[in-house]
Amino acid sequence: MCGIVGYVGGKDCADILVDALSKLEYRGYDSAGIAVFEGDRIVTEKTKGRLADLTEKMKKGHKPSGTSGIGHTRWATHGEPSDVNSHPHGNAKISIVHNGIIENYIRLKAFLIDKGYEFESQTDTETVAKLLDYYYNIEKEPIKTITRVLAEIEGSYALGIVFADYPGKIYSVRKDSPLIVGLGEGENFIASDVPAILKYTRDYYLLECDEIATITSDNVTICDIHGSEIKKEVQHATWDIESAEKGGYAHFMLKEIHEQPTAIKTTVSPRIMDGMPFLEECGITLDMLKSYRKIYIVACGTAMHAGLVGKYVIEELARIEVVVDIASEFRYRNPIIGSEDLVVLISQSGETADTKAVLRLAKDMGATTLSIVNVKGSSIARESDFVVYTHAGPEISVASTKAYMVQLSIMYLLAFELAYANGKITEEECKALVSELENIPSKIEETFGIESDCQYAASTLVNAESLLYIGRGLDYALSMEGSLKLKEISYIHSESYAAGELKHGTISLVTEDMPVIAVATQDRLFDKTVSNIKEVKARGAKVVMVTKNTVDVTSDVADVVVKLPVVRDVLMPMITVVPLQLIAYYTSVLKGCDVDKPRNLAKSVTVE
Ligand code: F6R
Repeated sequence: MCGIVGYVGGKDCADILVDALSKLEYRGYDSAGIAVFEGDRIVTEKTKGRLADLTEKMKKGHKPSGTSGIGHTRWATHGEPSDVNSHPHGNAKISIVHNGIIENYIRLKAFLIDKGYEFESQTDTETVAKLLDYYYNIEKEPIKTITRVLAEIEGSYALGIVFADYPGKIYSVRKDSPLIVGLGEGENFIASDVPAILKYTRDYYLLECDEIATITSDNVTICDIHGSEIKKEVQHATWDIESAEKGGYAHFMLKEIHEQPTAIKTTVSPRIMDGMPFLEECGITLDMLKSYRKIYIVACGTAMHAGLVGKYVIEELARIEVVVDIASEFRYRNPIIGSEDLVVLISQSGETADTKAVLRLAKDMGATTLSIVNVKGSSIARESDFVVYTHAGPEISVASTKAYMVQLSIMYLLAFELAYANGKITEEECKALVSELENIPSKIEETFGIESDCQYAASTLVNAESLLYIGRGLDYALSMEGSLKLKEISYIHSESYAAGELKHGTISLVTEDMPVIAVATQDRLFDKTVSNIKEVKARGAKVVMVTKNTVDVTSDVADVVVKLPVVRDVLMPMITVVPLQLIAYYTSVLKGCDVDKPRNLAKSVTVE
């Protein structure tokens, strides 16, 4: 996820571009840059770091002066945050900014190298810039050039493009990454999101996939890939600026919950090749995966809960022993690890002190280390032997939601690849699992249809002082995540318990004042969990049951039922976590808590 902007008008634009980008920093903030027409010369300034670093650099050095240009704030996907990987990319003739992922860039890069092009960055975007140059030399005209490039690139993109031969014009196109065209008086804009333009105009066009916009100071034309002009309806933004940054959602947490389908797609699709999991780009080969004696998954908090799901799934499908532990415990318990083991570290921030300490310990003890990290270039990513990046984009809400979801996605891909490498599933079975994983985003969209049920469930919990979450197997792992989410943002004490373990002590806590959230999505364990639910019901507990929409639940089992779309049991966690997140969210809202910034917490925990 990155933010792109563009301006064409009568005013000096460097400050306007930086100001517009500042409204998009929630989309990424590891580097920033602008390219501005100084006459018919494209002048670029860019740097690693935040927008403030770009402003500082321009203050000390050169601030491009001109009335049209493009800008970018980056969330690294291909290539570390660095000056050279920052956008805009291009040459004296063409410059571009890009949000998205070009999935076939390796093949395109090889083609361009063969044609004599040299590359200086590790980005997928530079491939698009060079491909534009290649076709511009043939077509000599922007729209035809762009159309030729669109026919070649695969993946997601929102592009802002300038050609030195056409000063005062911006070209823009998108597919599966957002882009709007802002319509001002004697000035026009492009932007990844509405907040970037609100200070200047409230009118805009929503660009649809593969529509190409040509923008000058007093005109915007939009055509399809065959060059036919398209008439668009003008949209009018009514949001205030603050709520616009949250995309109209009341809180970042809710926005991020709703971003989960996209985050999964962006994380999973580059890791699939011919229908099979493809982690080779991260250096992970099938032979390597076959060779491990044991797998350790170590992390903290929500990331550790993703690891717990990973344990169940890897053990179930690949039949390899997996040990999951909390990093702060693991590092001090003299663990038994060695060169035959794989140690997997999961971390959204890539900076969590305890997880980093385990990484260093595991390396010292000779194990292979693999990190699953969201922040490109973070310490854990840099120091691991192998890294698989999740592509959730920046997570602003302290309570993690979409980062957990993409961690799960990688756990599944790893489990499928391990199972296949170990001969536990056939290629056909592996492809069927991958295909169902690819279908999860649409199932999650379906799950948003039960948001009001979650809101209602929250209303029945809001006055509780303490709650229990219960489940078995994968549902137990999910209960832990549900319980943590509720605790951290609503300040209601809750505990997660293995449903079958309750009667060994904890059930003595259960009264009519202690609601129970029961998670029961696994067919094999369903009847057993229902028996445990009946035990708490018999002690007066009000029960909220989270289960599949194919199940009939009678009132003697549960007081409130949240019913989920069905996928195969092993993949149910990706669906089940959504209502658990929403129940926690709405409980926090009803209690009037600070949802996005709960007390006593920080987003990145860099101390032990
Ligand atoms: C809870 C939450 C935390 C983090 C934990 C690890 O919502 O966000 O429990 O999961 O602090 O952080 P990372 O993933 O950055 O290592």
